[in-house]
Amino acid sequence: MLRIVVLISGNGSNLQAIIDDIHDDEVEAQIVAVISNSPQAYGLQRAKQANIDTIVIDDANVASRTEYDRSLQQCIEQYQPDLVVLAGFMRILSNDFVNRYKDRLINIHPSLLPKYQGLNTHQRVLDAGDSHHGASVHFVIPELDAGPLILQAEVPIHSNDTVSELAQRVHDQEYIIYPLVIKWFAEGRIKMENGKVIKDGKELKHAAAILHLI
Ligand code: GRF
Repeated sequence: MLRIVVLISGNGSNLQAIIDDIHDDEVEAQIVAVISNSPQAYGLQRAKQANIDTIVIDDANVASRTEYDRSLQQCIEQYQPDLVVLAGFMRILSNDFVNRYKDRLINIHPSLLPKYQGLNTHQRVLDAGDSHHGASVHFVIPELDAGPLILQAEVPIHSNDTVSELAQRVHDQEYIIYPLVIKWFAEGRIKMENGKVIKDGKELKHAAAILHLI
């Protein structure tokens, strides 16, 4: 059974979607630990309710990124994960950390990457007057929000959309695509080799699929 460690910083609604799909036997995997850099993260409550080990590695008083990432890695190692899932983990990870979990570290980002790397994506998309927005699941490499894409979901932007309406539309798709990618990983259908995504034995040149929603 695929062993997963999930890293969070906040609400943990993506974590919840993964917990629910595992519970419903949609995904054959086990979340062995949820780690947060913030003691306030609501996702910790979600994990506890699902009887998952929770650990807080508070970054409030940590001197350096190297030091923090070393503690994080030591903690993760105890759980021997096959996959490390970033689900709203709001820290930039050091190259050493990323390289340690190379090929088994994935992230979800609220935009149609490579567009809108970084923060405040929903506001920036609205400011730019785009017609579409979305979310992307990708393998993590040392460059921020730049790893090879696995799956994206696209949503339309309606006139008069507020940031929160648009964010909710994107979130609803995140809850579909993130558990789906984890399912593929658990089934051995997806992997990264030499920096390239291989799905069902073939190299993916673009995101595996874009879910288009009306
Ligand atoms: C999501 O929008 C995800 O794309 C981004 O952070 C947010 C996390 O939300 N990486 P939640 O904590 O899963 O509710």
